[in-house]
Amino acid sequence: MRKPIIAGNWKMYKTVGEAVNFVAAFKEKTAGVSGVEMVLCPPFTALAAVAQRLAGSGIELGAQNMHWQPEGAYTGEIAPGMLREIGCKYVILGHSERRQYFGETDELVNKKVKAALEHGLTPIVCVGERLEERESGQTEAVVRRQVEGALAGLASRQVAGLVVAYEPVWAIGTGRTASAEDAQQVNAFIRSILRRLFGDDAADAVRIQYGGSVKPGNAAGLMAQPDIDGALVGGASLDAASFAEIVKNSAPAEE
Ligand code: PGA
Repeated sequence: MRKPIIAGNWKMYKTVGEAVNFVAAFKEKTAGVSGVEMVLCPPFTALAAVAQRLAGSGIELGAQNMHWQPEGAYTGEIAPGMLREIGCKYVILGHSERRQYFGETDELVNKKVKAALEHGLTPIVCVGERLEERESGQTEAVVRRQVEGALAGLASRQVAGLVVAYEPVWAIGTGRTASAEDAQQVNAFIRSILRRLFGDDAADAVRIQYGGSVKPGNAAGLMAQPDIDGALVGGASLDAASFAEIVKNSAPAEE
C-alpha cells in the first residue's frame, strides 16, 4: 500500500515568524493523525526555523526548488547539500511556476532530479498541462514528454522512491479543480508511463499526487481514487486549520 503524502507548498508566503506560528498550530491540529505523511515546504528563509520546530513531530520538511550543482559561483542559488544539512527530506522540482516564470525545461528538471537523488533528497516532480494544451487534446502528450524528460536516465529503484505531482496548470490557484475522475485518469496515465519505462515494481511503489486548488472539501474525493496518492497543496496549505483538515480528510478510512 502506498502511504498518502500531503505536501504544503507555501510558495513566496510567510515570514519566519508566521511560519513558526503556523507550525505550532498545525502540530496541535494534526496530533494523533496517522496513515498520512505530512510535508511542509516553506520558503528558504524559513526552512531552518521550521526544521527546528518540526523535530520529533513526524512532519517532514521540503524545499520548493534548488540548483543542480553541489556548489559554485551561482549567485542567489541554493545547493542540494545545503537543503539536506538543514533537514529537508523532500524538494519540489519543476513546479509549473518555475517552468513558466523562470524558464525551467524538462532537461533542467532532469538535472535537478538527479542532483537531488545524489544528495539523498526525494524529489516531488511536478508535471501538468496548460489550459490551451488540455483544450487542444494534448494533455497526454504534454504529460508524457514532461515525465519522460524529468526522469530520463534514472534507475527503476530510484523511480520507486519518487513522488510525482500531477498539477494541471489551469487548476493552480484558480479555484478550478480537476474532477476526481479527470485527475485519476491522468494519474493512471502517468503510472502507465512509469510501468513501461521502469517496470511494475517502480510503477506500483511511486506515489503520484494531485495538485491544483485542493481544499478541505474536495480532498477526500480525490484521495479515494486508486492512482491518487496524495496532494500538493498551495493556497489551502497557508492556513493551519484548512491544511490540517485536508490531511485528516486524506487519511485512510481504516486508520
Ligand atoms: P493551489 O496550488 O493549491 O493554490 O492551486 C497548488 C500548487 O501550485 O502546488
